[in-house]
Amino acid sequence: MLNWDDFHEDENATAPAAEKPAPQADAKPAAQPEPEPEAVRESAGTYKVADSDRLARARKSLEELDVAAGLEELEMGAARIEVDDKQMINARADLNQLVPFKYEWAWQKYLDGSANHWMPQEVNMNADIALWKSQDGLTPDERRIVERSLGYFSTADSLVANNLVLALYRLITNPECRQYLLRQAFEEAIHTHAYQYCVESLGMDEGEVFNMYREVPSVAAKSAWSLKHTQSLARPDFQTGTPETDQELLRNLVAFYCVTEGIFFYCGFSQILSMGRRNKMTGVAEQFQYILRDESMHLNFGIDMINQIKIENPHLWTAEFQDEVTQMIIEGTELEIAYARDTMPRGVLGMNAAIMEEYLHFICNRRLAQIGLKEQYPGAQNPFPWMSEIIDLRKEKNFFETRVTEYQVGGALSWD
Ligand SMILES: [Fe+2]
Ligand SMILES: [Fe+2]
Repeated sequence: MLNWDDFHEDENATAPAAEKPAPQADAKPAAQPEPEPEAVRESAGTYKVADSDRLARARKSLEELDVAAGLEELEMGAARIEVDDKQMINARADLNQLVPFKYEWAWQKYLDGSANHWMPQEVNMNADIALWKSQDGLTPDERRIVERSLGYFSTADSLVANNLVLALYRLITNPECRQYLLRQAFEEAIHTHAYQYCVESLGMDEGEVFNMYREVPSVAAKSAWSLKHTQSLARPDFQTGTPETDQELLRNLVAFYCVTEGIFFYCGFSQILSMGRRNKMTGVAEQFQYILRDESMHLNFGIDMINQIKIENPHLWTAEFQDEVTQMIIEGTELEIAYARDTMPRGVLGMNAAIMEEYLHFICNRRLAQIGLKEQYPGAQNPFPWMSEIIDLRKEKNFFETRVTEYQVGGALSWD
């Protein structure tokens, strides 16, 4: 184990090494075998980095790399961080220091999300298993809804998690937002786990469910749309810092938070929750209810990020860009309406595709308004007021404050 005495020795040992030239990039280790330092050959328990040459090479390669924000060399003696140094994107402030906080809303969401931890195995699936396996427990239309929902969601949350980790995280240059993104990424893993747990519990065909996102057109269309909006950011050479690239980041936030998590989840969620209200597939419905509560916080966090970036970079929010973003949200709504038609060829569970279309217009209006854009479906009403009670659409920000106790214990939720 590295002790403090070793650490100081190493510091002293590395100082002159920085002067040494690094080996040529094309030098092959086999052709120029390096003597392994004595300390490194010792057991792991006494590991001590004494190879000054190796450290010098590592330092040089880091300097040559255009490293992601947060991985730069330590800036010894630099001025301490002021709150005003912090910003959502393109910040120069040290990203390894969480405090002082600038965005209290981000830290509060991290605390709220962490306080509401849950795991899929806490939900009793016995009644679902019996119902799913019985011959006449569910109608074919109801079974179709369960299959399509698990088909879409079992991969959708992986798409969201991959976008967070592989595309978005490094571009958000604020530590308290990154703290929430890490929490969100873990919640997405729990959601994928929950869907896998449902599929396994019900004895469904895993291959069929997990391939639905590339085999069923209405599911594939939504997944492909989300993927399209993550690919440019995930390129290793993508960087923000110009109006064009900063807008590309905003497109990604709109595509994932407003559309994928804010629209694409709503038909499936309301179908499964409607099933639970009818006392069918109550275990699956309870899993979805926990997930929906997490998702409403993800959505609000994303909207807070978009609005904060707009405040700090008003030049990005041009009339032309607002039109483009509006079109993206309409496009997402239309894909979700197509999914509703595919999953509900007839009326089922007290809903049908036309009622769902009205609901999705209502949701679309809300997403537009939340980021300051004009509603596109004037007068659209919410036909599912019980969904509002579950997510509390009008008071999303206060949601956990009123229900935190029952959620924290992870016990069964009531269906009222
Ligand atoms: Fe999720
Ligand atoms: Fe999410």
